[in-house]
Amino acid sequence: MYNILKSAHSGWRYIVLILLVIAVINALSGWFGNKTYTEGNRKLNVFTLISAHIQLLIGLVLYFLSPLTKLPMSDAIGRYFKAEHTSMMIIAIILITVGNAKSKKVADAVAKHRTIAVFFSLALILIIVAITLMVKEVPGRSFFGVS
Ligand code: HEM
Repeated sequence: MYNILKSAHSGWRYIVLILLVIAVINALSGWFGNKTYTEGNRKLNVFTLISAHIQLLIGLVLYFLSPLTKLPMSDAIGRYFKAEHTSMMIIAIILITVGNAKSKKVADAVAKHRTIAVFFSLALILIIVAITLMVKEVPGRSFFGVS
């Protein structure tokens, strides 16, 4: 069970990252290009949100199953997974959730694109920083690779 979830969580990062990058590019081009907010834009943003929530669910279960979260806080790996990874990823997912919800509330198309661009970009930066920290602090982990 642990190994299956670990591989799922490891591989699912690509789905989240790819959707997030495409959503940010679309939102930036919609914002700066004064484009209309299409049904395709809305669906892409919702799929990005769903992918992030799936990753959150797998991550939450992993939190209780992983031997790495049982390491003490004095250990760099234990501290990374117990505190840094979890908090940074949860903040990133909150940003995606809030950004998507706010974009629904504004009526103007460019404002919708701008809201998605700002919130999703911040989430993307946070996720990249968290994975980069993992590569630095946890031996054997790489930015690209599935364990
Ligand atoms: C967008 C959100 C997230 C992304 C992109 C992400 C990404 C990753 C990656 C790349 C790994 C390393 C896997 C490997 O080395 O192959 C990992 C491990 C882990 N993640 Fe996440 N994660 C996210 C959210 C979360 C959340 C919210 C939690 C906890 C509540 C969590 C808990 C864990 C744990 C415990 C591990 C260590 C698993 C182990 O090797 O025993 N993750 N995550």
